[in-house]
Amino acid sequence: MIPDKTPVGGDTFHGAADLAQRAHVLSFQKYKELYLQSVQSPQEFWGKIAKEFYWKTPQTGSFLDYNFDHTKGKIYIKLMEGATTNICYNLLDRNVYDKKLGDKIAFYWEGNEPGDSMEITYKDLLQQVCKFANVLRAQGVKKGDRISIYMPMIMELVVAMLACARIGAVHSIVFAGFSSESLCERIMDSCCTFIVAADGFYRGDKLINLKLVVDEALRKCRERDFQVSKCIVVKHLGGTEETCADETSTNPQSPPAKRSCQIPWDANVDVWWHELVKGASDECEPEWCDTEDPLFILYTSGSTGKPKGVLHTIGGYLLYTATTFKYVFNYQPDDVYWCTADIGWVTGHSYVTYAPLANGATSVMFEGLPTYPDSSRFWEIIDKYKVTTFYTAPTAIRLLMKYGDGPVKRFSRQSLKILGTVGEPINPEAWHWYYKVIGNGRCPIMDTFWQTETGGHMLTPLPVAIPLKPGSATFPFFGVVPAILNESGEELEGEAEGYLVFKKPWPSIMRTVYGNQERFEDTYFKKFPGYFVTGDGCKRDKDGYYWITGRIDDMLNVSGHLLSTAEVESALIEHPAIAEAAVVSHPHPVKGECLYCFVTLRDGHEFTKTLVTELKNQVREKISPIATPDYIQNAPGLPKTRSGKIMRRILRKIARNEKDLGDISTLADESVVTELVSNRCKTT
Ligand code: PRX
Repeated sequence: MIPDKTPVGGDTFHGAADLAQRAHVLSFQKYKELYLQSVQSPQEFWGKIAKEFYWKTPQTGSFLDYNFDHTKGKIYIKLMEGATTNICYNLLDRNVYDKKLGDKIAFYWEGNEPGDSMEITYKDLLQQVCKFANVLRAQGVKKGDRISIYMPMIMELVVAMLACARIGAVHSIVFAGFSSESLCERIMDSCCTFIVAADGFYRGDKLINLKLVVDEALRKCRERDFQVSKCIVVKHLGGTEETCADETSTNPQSPPAKRSCQIPWDANVDVWWHELVKGASDECEPEWCDTEDPLFILYTSGSTGKPKGVLHTIGGYLLYTATTFKYVFNYQPDDVYWCTADIGWVTGHSYVTYAPLANGATSVMFEGLPTYPDSSRFWEIIDKYKVTTFYTAPTAIRLLMKYGDGPVKRFSRQSLKILGTVGEPINPEAWHWYYKVIGNGRCPIMDTFWQTETGGHMLTPLPVAIPLKPGSATFPFFGVVPAILNESGEELEGEAEGYLVFKKPWPSIMRTVYGNQERFEDTYFKKFPGYFVTGDGCKRDKDGYYWITGRIDDMLNVSGHLLSTAEVESALIEHPAIAEAAVVSHPHPVKGECLYCFVTLRDGHEFTKTLVTELKNQVREKISPIATPDYIQNAPGLPKTRSGKIMRRILRKIARNEKDLGDISTLADESVVTELVSNRCKTT
């Protein structure tokens, strides 16, 4: 499957020559050798890596035990059964005490406002985590309890997640852009007893009053008979209860910005973070957990509408994220690494928090936006901290490309060695701009394909060893066995296109959907027994390179974030004017894809500009601003089969202004199509 010789197509890029001297994997042959070892003797391969980490007690059962075939019984994956450990101990105590990295910077934190920054060493991070872990314990949080975290990109977010991990509590982080409805839904699904939040934050020049959203979510929970016992609030904007207008930030280096936010306060539930940690001890014995104990739940969109709580466990997640980080970014101790993802998404979990800390790395953590105060912010930060490894999303690259080369050229970016992308396919134009303009043609681009469900990189190049092809995530990482299947579930060899699946488990594969094993099995294992189904289409070229072709289920990828069409449709239908809705994806120059919605009105309602605005707001409020539709079209009738199924295939073509709509003979009423075509929204 993996070629014997280094692929040398005309379109391969190697990146910098000076990287080669320090590469962990020096050649394609070496990659192949390690890869074969990893899949032929996983126990030996991962067992050796496991020795680099701390296990309180060794494994007692088999190294890897699993079933991927639902026809043979329950789906399960168990790694290093019986071993006990603590991931926080491995990320912090081990680095501080065994590796003597206490004084090394763990994070440079860069705030939304330029000039608002701080840094934290491994030793200080450990102390802060211990303090907050003691606070949680004192509040009655126990191993296995679920804690919801709803925070901006501030250091307390990392502290809170690691404090949970230290005491064996399971964090469920909700991206701070999600609505109160989405937060409520997630809190209730995983029965979170506590929530950790912040008063508010600025995204660019926009104030986000986070606490208001939390209160609204908790009110919704109460209406549905669910009560969260405490809400711990970080005073990020320096607010006081009820009113905090014109206060400056608690950060002494912060400029006296015009900050203001009103904070509602319920003394029965709300409690300030800083008051709780004030007297807490900075020593805290970790909870020793089984490697298969849950580490976190992270919600991802599901094609049936309701988000799925993807559950990851401790040991395998630690091994895999740490190893991918080391090899994919060719990590060296003097690197400064920056992943721009928000911790609210899986990229932030794995590659802002867990993997860099597991390697003892120094990272940049950024609260703000790529375009605030102007579109050179990323490049300015790279020079400020001498970033060597920069990992971002294609949507950010496309956005910044629009501003031209000028804002980039104002900064040297000399420190850069490796670039990375994640979240969606990268179009060749954006790839070349990233490579030539950002990386000055010196830095290889790691196009990493993976998912919330996979925990870490699955298909990815390795610097130096794997020649790049723009737009291809190239080859499988160690331990990953991909296959391409046709509709009948047959494996396709050589050049082929079909469903991307994985044949064997890798250490950080999700273990279940929280509280819903059946949904786990149905979503990922039912269609092709014996395989983990990604939901993505994929092509293999003549050189064995993998190319992701996009989702093949009812999911959309907007700016690298997965959304389900069903989720957006149900948000639209809740509007009193809407009888029916169908949502399809439409290409977008910056976001990759955007939402094109067809709505059928109830009798007595009119399709007006006001209604369109109301519908857009409704989706924003029910889900999040990311889900805001770009286009809403009046659809007096929708194309349906005689059995009543909406034919989204036809709607997609109408939205894209394709002339050939394919076979429409199975429609109950073909005339609806003509009307839809003539009422099409003008798109860009
Ligand atoms: O469709 C693939 C796309 O993002 C999906 C996973 O989304 P999520 O779980 O939110 O995780 C995103 C961050 C890991 C995948 O099913 N995707 C992710 N990375 C790539 C990609 N598509 C193409 N190329 C990638 N590098």
